[in-house]
Amino acid sequence: MTDTATVWTAAWDRPAGEERARELFDATFGTAPDGVWSAPGRVNLIGEHTDYNAGLALPVALPHRTYAAVARRDDDLVRLVSAQEPSGVREVRLAHAVPGAVRGWAAYVVGVAWALREAGHDVGGFDVAIDSCVPFGAGLSSSAALEASVAVALDAVHGLGLAGGVDADGAARDDAGRARVAELCVRAENEMAGAPTGGMDQAASLRARAGHALLLDCRDGGVRHVPFDLAAHGLALLVVDTRAEHSHVDGEYAQRRAACEDAARRLGVASLREVADAAEGTGAALAALATAADGDVLVRRVRHVTSEIARVRAFVEALDAGDVPAVGPLMDASHASLRDDYEVSCRELDVAVDATLAAGALGARMTGGGFGGSAIALVRAADVDAVATAVAAAFAARGLATPAFAVAVAGPPAA
Ligand code: GLA
Repeated sequence: MTDTATVWTAAWDRPAGEERARELFDATFGTAPDGVWSAPGRVNLIGEHTDYNAGLALPVALPHRTYAAVARRDDDLVRLVSAQEPSGVREVRLAHAVPGAVRGWAAYVVGVAWALREAGHDVGGFDVAIDSCVPFGAGLSSSAALEASVAVALDAVHGLGLAGGVDADGAARDDAGRARVAELCVRAENEMAGAPTGGMDQAASLRARAGHALLLDCRDGGVRHVPFDLAAHGLALLVVDTRAEHSHVDGEYAQRRAACEDAARRLGVASLREVADAAEGTGAALAALATAADGDVLVRRVRHVTSEIARVRAFVEALDAGDVPAVGPLMDASHASLRDDYEVSCRELDVAVDATLAAGALGARMTGGGFGGSAIALVRAADVDAVATAVAAAFAARGLATPAFAVAVAGPPAA
């Protein structure tokens, strides 16, 4: 095997990230910002495509963050610049910022201001400079990190008192307030950016805790922080960014969501969570669904969602019991279900998962919405480099784009 170099996506340390955003702000607007706020991307450990089914998910916040330097204005103008967007400064008047009127990345930023105003908060114009080490289009929630960084910034510069602060140990002080802010970020994404996503990413970015995974119950928005310290077990979570770009604004994600809602309607339940919880009734319900014209596809979609919710429970039980290696087979089963039943994987994700397992990973799966983006693998800490090298070689051998790697350590939420 030829020696394949690996590419790593480094997480900036907080002062460096803040300085970058501050410098971009100074260079663009010629003044200092009121402050710099930041919010993390996420990987989801398990519980994929469950959030919009009122199910369970288990994300962790990444050390990779999006930084927003913001200054309040006295008019209703928003001026935006991003180090990741070469198009220069954009200007949007909040009076004109209605769903459908703002295109591209600006919709996520302006959408947060719009959602806050829709909820009755007194939010006016602002200047904002963005810089980020959350890779874009990698399935690591760069959009939620952008929304959440702007949300906590606007909360602070307008003195809204919604989100509360974060303790030195990386725990949010006001989770209920953050849950409400997360909902507004979801509105920004759904209505202003037009991406029909669930709420997992925004919850992870705003409500996660350092050193913990966030067990999110999407039926009632409840959370539990589950200790997640892989290093203590000699393990690590390797993230493989396949560089196969995904997008939730296109139709496949919306189709999956619509299929689940259709299946729930036909089964006479409010959400597929009810099917998952009624374990003994699941077989009969699925048999009834199977007789419909497109029943086979719907049965597989439902089977993914219900089995995935059960896997989240088993995953958390294993973590609670301190039996971390036991989560490996659950990750493998999750990937198979997403690939075969839910059909949201792709060649690059399958190659990444297979290559990590062949190189000794204890478990691996795609993470996020799918159709590209990233995979995660549970590996022995000592094997991180070797597994990454094996994945890079597998990609090179198949003529796929060079993947990028990161190690996920559970970081603090937006602040
Ligand atoms: C994307 C969406 C989330 C969630 C995942 C799949 O990341 O933004 O709401 O649905 O896909 O689990």
